[in-house]
Amino acid sequence: MTATIPSDPTALPLEQKAALLSGQDFWSTPPVEAAGLPSVVLTDGPHGVRRQVGDLDQIGLIESVPATCFPPAVAVGSSWDPETAERIGAAIGVEARAIGVPVVLGPGVNIKRSPLCGRNFEYYSEDPLLAGVLGAAHVRGQQGAGVGASVKHFAANNQETQRMQVSADVDERTLREIYLPAFERVVTEAQPATVMCAYNKVNGVYASQHHWLLTEVLREEWGFTGAVVSDWGAVDDRVAALEAGLDLQMPGDHGAGNALVVEAVRSGRLDEAVVDRSVRRVAALAGYVGEPTDGFDADAHHALARELATGCAVLLKNDGGALPLAAGQRVAVVGEFARTPRFQGGGSSHVNATRVDDALTALQVTHSVDFAPGFTLDGSGDAAALRDEAVGLARDADVTVVFAGLAEGDESEGFDRTHLDLPVAQVELIRAVAAVSARTVVVLSSGSVVSLEGWHDDVDAVLAGFLLGQGGGSALADLLTGAADPSGRLAETIPLRLADTPSFLDFPGEQGHVRYAEGVMVGYRQFVTVDRPVRYPFGHGLSYTTFTTSDLEVRTVGDDAATVTLTVTNTGARAGRHVVQVYVATTAGPVRRPARELRAFTKVSLAAGESTTVAFELDRRAFAYWDVREHAWVVAPGEHAVQIGRSATDVVDERTIDLTGDVVVRELTLQSSVAEWFEHPVAGPQLLEGFLATMPEGAGEMHAGMLQMIGSMPMRRFAADFGGAIPAEELERLMAAARVAR
Ligand code: BGC
Repeated sequence: MTATIPSDPTALPLEQKAALLSGQDFWSTPPVEAAGLPSVVLTDGPHGVRRQVGDLDQIGLIESVPATCFPPAVAVGSSWDPETAERIGAAIGVEARAIGVPVVLGPGVNIKRSPLCGRNFEYYSEDPLLAGVLGAAHVRGQQGAGVGASVKHFAANNQETQRMQVSADVDERTLREIYLPAFERVVTEAQPATVMCAYNKVNGVYASQHHWLLTEVLREEWGFTGAVVSDWGAVDDRVAALEAGLDLQMPGDHGAGNALVVEAVRSGRLDEAVVDRSVRRVAALAGYVGEPTDGFDADAHHALARELATGCAVLLKNDGGALPLAAGQRVAVVGEFARTPRFQGGGSSHVNATRVDDALTALQVTHSVDFAPGFTLDGSGDAAALRDEAVGLARDADVTVVFAGLAEGDESEGFDRTHLDLPVAQVELIRAVAAVSARTVVVLSSGSVVSLEGWHDDVDAVLAGFLLGQGGGSALADLLTGAADPSGRLAETIPLRLADTPSFLDFPGEQGHVRYAEGVMVGYRQFVTVDRPVRYPFGHGLSYTTFTTSDLEVRTVGDDAATVTLTVTNTGARAGRHVVQVYVATTAGPVRRPARELRAFTKVSLAAGESTTVAFELDRRAFAYWDVREHAWVVAPGEHAVQIGRSATDVVDERTIDLTGDVVVRELTLQSSVAEWFEHPVAGPQLLEGFLATMPEGAGEMHAGMLQMIGSMPMRRFAADFGGAIPAEELERLMAAARVAR
């Protein structure tokens, strides 16, 4: 924050207060001179500033002030590197201040529930820890530069289909374990200036008027102190939204909603204190307003975008050391994306890039390169002729690099994909080239995963670039030539078939509802739990060097927490970066757990032959599940394996620890089952003792078998049958004892 708020804005007339709580136009709040409040501009985000020029009353996706397009979240997710996210956030902050934007709308930390989501390119991962750590780092960077952030879209906004109407029907445990933790981490660790509510409904209630989400969870549990802003046009009932905890409606609606707020206060339906509360929060955003700075160094930021992009691409396959390209090799570059790069996604995040690098030009600096486009981005033209031309070049080359991927028309904000396939012309091109070329490398550009089936086994190497921002073309060339070492790891599983993906049967829903029926088994959590094969697992990624891990030690500390230490060694001949992935696996407790879950990670840089020790602290939350009966995080007593993985399916080492866990003393009722009564830590032993005393000799041995048979019977029924053995007063007494013990 750069300024302080001059006077108490709640003393303003009601009309002005209501007006302050909605945009004066598409991108800014109204200034209130009487309270010394300047207008606050809020604009996209998340991977570059999109400050619209000209008439502010309409959404112009094209016309915006030139800014650096940094690697979008899909790439940053693959970097597994919070420093990358933080540096991007900081650079965006610098540009925003130069452009006169106090609040930039990002980052997006929604979970990639399905690879089909059209907006996956704006999100980090299918894993909430990875998304949360990167999102928090981005906010730290951006706000450290004095520019407010807006973590979005809160919550359960995991598809574009019917995004403004659909109800995401998600059970409590799944919300807590999968869809909320990334937001929770960003809020608790980085206190973003704003949280942007989602368009969709959550369990039937619009996110914009969801009291439990916007107030009970966000503020009362997580301690959020900033302003909740609506996604653009997400407010359905302005008064209900205000009461639920939404502070700022964007954009404005020409005063219609403000009039409703005034009317609601005047008629006594809405407490003015609710308005005042939001007024204070929105007024506080003025603290981010400052004089525009003196521009930014576009060259330096372009260099930064390029440097960071090299850490984001994922080398999926590299048979026979096809990469890096050797000096002096004759290289055929094939594919329109080599000269017309796809480096960002479509929609509100679209940045007017200051410049764009293409891989073709960059590769020509180091190699003698022949180029053929191979296909057109819109599918027009003579596909066979384009392919034949490319095949002709491939035949004479030492290595052919095919730049394949999805065009902007194939995926974007606003709609979801219906399949994972590359365009047929590209698949045919890859196969035809691979059939004649001495070596074939495929470079992919796409906002989310695409299927590798039908061509993967024909090629020698695959480099997944996703969308790398404006420096991506040079970054890809740096990786292909070995000037940089690939260090990205998959932040989302690449499945064999769309039908294998956990949400397949329930995406994008029907008749206004999308049921999150896979529960917590999202992404790799389900693939590893049911042992379903994938093309490449979450966490996978190769490097030009090799790493080993050793000396793993796991110690329990304090209240069900643990420390983890291990040594990482670069065993190869060149410098590189390794991502250490720490998973926790347990079957303890009363709920089905994913076979393993990512609980910590770090990315280390090591010179050839160098070793380092890395240490992690796993807090009790790393071992906990969300208990829907207790409405709380619970650690199950018992064994928990701490595993080091190269990916979610490749565990290289593990240690098992025994945790004391939480003794959950549940309330007992007559509807509780017999098993729950007998297993109850307080009532159980007393009940058993009293029960056995009335039974014939030897009944004790029968206990286990009997319990299995009648365990699920409600106590009410059991007591009726064995009325004499368990008197009603005794049950009352035990229920009271159980209550007291809670
Ligand atoms: C998007 C937001 C974006 C806003 C403003 C909405 O359509 O969902 O992510 O920040 O527009 O452009």
